[in-house]
Amino acid sequence: MTETMIETRGLTKRYGRRTLALDGLTLDVTKGEVLGFLGPNGAGKTTTIRLLLDLIRPTSGEIRLFGLDSRRDGLETRRRIGYLPGELPFEGRQNGWELLTFLGNLRGGVGHRHIRALAERLDLDLDQPIRTLSKGNKQKVGLVQAFMHEPELLVLDEPSSGLDPLLQREFLQLVREIRKEGRTVFMSSHILAEVEDIADRVAILREGRLVAIEDMRDLKQRAVRQMEILFDAPVPAETFGMIPGVRDVKVDGNTLSCTVEGPADALIKAAARFTVISVLSRAPDLEDAFLEYYSDERGG
Ligand SMILES: Nc1ncnc2c1ncn2[C@@H]1O[C@H](COP(=O)(O)OP(=O)(O)OP(=O)(O)O)[C@@H](O)[C@H]1O
Ligand SMILES: [Mg+2]
Repeated sequence: MTETMIETRGLTKRYGRRTLALDGLTLDVTKGEVLGFLGPNGAGKTTTIRLLLDLIRPTSGEIRLFGLDSRRDGLETRRRIGYLPGELPFEGRQNGWELLTFLGNLRGGVGHRHIRALAERLDLDLDQPIRTLSKGNKQKVGLVQAFMHEPELLVLDEPSSGLDPLLQREFLQLVREIRKEGRTVFMSSHILAEVEDIADRVAILREGRLVAIEDMRDLKQRAVRQMEILFDAPVPAETFGMIPGVRDVKVDGNTLSCTVEGPADALIKAAARFTVISVLSRAPDLEDAFLEYYSDERGG
């Protein structure tokens, strides 16, 4: 049986009369999945996340977390969530260690070793006063506090913002481990590439509306990739042009180039009838397909 960790029904948020920040969001996030919550600036990602955490109240619509009412059972639901806000309020004189143990105690005690281990993985200096930390290092404090009590559900607002590439990778590795343990991650981002390798699904929000929700595997399957096959002699272009999903076939000397939509299986099998020297396949450009959702010509 699949367990639903987040359930929203017609979730709507207006700020004043003018701004409809979120317009009827209906979404289910199931246990054990990583959901990438994507959309351009102002799309309503942070608004959604703040609604989930009950930090702001919806204009209409409903939220259930772990099957519980997020408002009535707010205390319990919040204990089971690890939350990384988009903007961190860290300003105190404390250092990382003091803040994190303080927050850990609020949550009923978090193992010191656990905090140290996370800090070490993220290369965070726990002795430096928080307010003197750089943006990326503050972000690490935010991540440690979201992860440290090993919550069932992580709600992360742009978690890799400010992290350098090495640490971004480490963060993704952490998410992978969490997923392996059957825990659930809901994370916002602007960039598909950032969630491409870890998300099971992506939801795309635009101007407060859900414009797409896609299985990552389907998206990758559908994506178009460029392929180049080098043979030991020229091959007839027609043979390859007839394969379903294969387009833009060009033969230049011993090299065949084309684009392939979906699996490359039929193309590879056709190529195998000749002598293949090498095969080059460029990663599918998901970003291209995805950017359509960002532009004004779509959705709306
Ligand atoms: N406190 C507020 N008062 C009035 N309007 C707000 C408030 N917070 C957000 N908005 C508006 O709601 C809309 C959605 O904002 P939100 O912060 O949720 O977007 P976002 O997807 O998180 O964007 P970003 O990618 O820039 O973080 C925007 O038009 C924003 O200006
Ligand atoms: Mg935001």
